[in-house]
Amino acid sequence: MKKIYLPVFIIATALAVVLSVPVAAHAQGADLFKAKCAACHGADGTGSAMGKKMGAHDFTTDEVQKMSDAELSDIITNGKNKMPKYATLKPEEVKGLVAYIRSLKK
Ligand code: HEC
Repeated sequence: MKKIYLPVFIIATALAVVLSVPVAAHAQGADLFKAKCAACHGADGTGSAMGKKMGAHDFTTDEVQKMSDAELSDIITNGKNKMPKYATLKPEEVKGLVAYIRSLKK
């Protein structure tokens, strides 16, 4: 590679990384949700039989969708009744999960 192309290459790479972050957050949210949450909330967010028995609500309904991002993040991080807390998730991971929950709205 000629010397002059290197800064251009670095800038292009940095731009590609920055631009891919919002997309990655949502995709990561979907993967995390399937791995950690679907057992109770169902892959589609409507709730598994076990989750419903424990008191989980259908994520596709207004009941959940009208909650603010802050409320959803708070329940995910700190738990609520039988909802376990996920205090070790990174803020971007919680954001990705909230974005995924929003995408389930009917
Ligand atoms: C062991 C079962 C279980 C797992 C696993 C679980 N939850 Fe929950 N979750 C619940 C229950 C039960 C509630 C209802 C709490 C209440 O209001 O009493 C709930 C509530 C919620 C709510 C508030 C809306 C509602 O249904 O009341 C959100 C948002 C939520 N969970 C997100 C998540 C996310 C994101 C994950 C994965 C990181 C997750 N949950 C994993 C059982 C679970």
